[in-house]
Amino acid sequence: MQVETAAESLDPLSSDCGYDQQYFAPGRVNLIGEHTDYTGGLVLPMAIPFQSTASIATNCNSAYEFTSNHFSTQRRLHLDEEVNAIGDWSDYCVGVLQQLRNRGIEIAPFRLHIGGNVPIGAGLSSSASIEVATIMALLAHAKATMAVEEMAILCRRAENEFVGSPCGIMDQFVILAAHSAHALLLHTSSLRNEHLSLQSKHLSETRIIVVNSMVKHSIAAGDYGVRRREVESGQQILREHFPELADLGQASLGQLETRRASMSPESYRRCRHIISENDRVRGARAAILADDPGLLGDLMTRSHVSQRDDFACSCEEIDFLVDCALRQPGCFGARLTGGGFGGCTVNLVAADHAEAFVAAVTRDYKGAFKIDAASYVCEAAAGAVAQNSSSDCL
Ligand code: GLA
Repeated sequence: MQVETAAESLDPLSSDCGYDQQYFAPGRVNLIGEHTDYTGGLVLPMAIPFQSTASIATNCNSAYEFTSNHFSTQRRLHLDEEVNAIGDWSDYCVGVLQQLRNRGIEIAPFRLHIGGNVPIGAGLSSSASIEVATIMALLAHAKATMAVEEMAILCRRAENEFVGSPCGIMDQFVILAAHSAHALLLHTSSLRNEHLSLQSKHLSETRIIVVNSMVKHSIAAGDYGVRRREVESGQQILREHFPELADLGQASLGQLETRRASMSPESYRRCRHIISENDRVRGARAAILADDPGLLGDLMTRSHVSQRDDFACSCEEIDFLVDCALRQPGCFGARLTGGGFGGCTVNLVAADHAEAFVAAVTRDYKGAFKIDAASYVCEAAAGAVAQNSSSDCL
């Protein structure tokens, strides 16, 4: 059985000899609000205590150098070199560098070293975490400052335009702005946000347990983009009929029904997921404020059903983990989290049942699929800005 708290599983940080400063960015788990962040909707994620680290030093060679103790490849760029994505981890760093330079920020030669322990391809935002650690390091190196919103948008752009993943803004924003012991409600159209405490009486007696199916997910791999296009086509049809709608985030199920016949069955179902998911996020906010784990868990489970049946972004292994979770005593709710097509489930479980929950779910999963799932009991962590607040860049 692999069970660990995310905090315990942190690798000891390398001593980083020769680097001037080190910056940290957590991973994230989304509690609810899935696939709503590219249509102006609501999301409710929290940061988790896995981390990417970026260590930076001035380079005496006139080049930008990128190394990592997690990946075997290294990369070196001349200052005036035209850069392209090469399909490895360094693209996340180079994409951020390119965006900063496009903004006119001058960055002297550096050596950047990436480390950390965010599980890769698990839907816990290892890529956004590398981007955020990188932007913190590069801004400090350039002695420049930037508002959180701007940093999040710039990192998202690096991923959309340079890496080529059509993701939304959720991951970068929460990784920068989260508060410890809080979930973050984010309106992705305006970036208005609200920190919701998870420490009220009943919620503090629950645990957020992330179960990693070990089925790899990659949002650059295609299915995410297909879903996004299906959604955008439905959104466009709605806009044509209801010009007052800026995006799907403002649409109602009633409006969608009136246009059902004019869109493909796929677009209709994807949009139904997104509109109903926004309602569930509003409900989850109310449940957290009311300190009601039963209601929060129920909304999480309903979110899973909608992702499975309407958004079609789950898979056999994840559905098994959710069904198995819901049979366990003390489980309030369970769902697929992140981009989908594999990755992790997020489960809300009574604290005194957490250990038995992990034992039962991992045992049954191994029995069914011969895969060792990893489980992480996650406290809500602080975002990169808080973790690096003593640095001179903020
Ligand atoms: C991935 C993307 C996010 C978001 C989720 C689905 O994690 O990076 O922007 O779209 O999928 O909610």
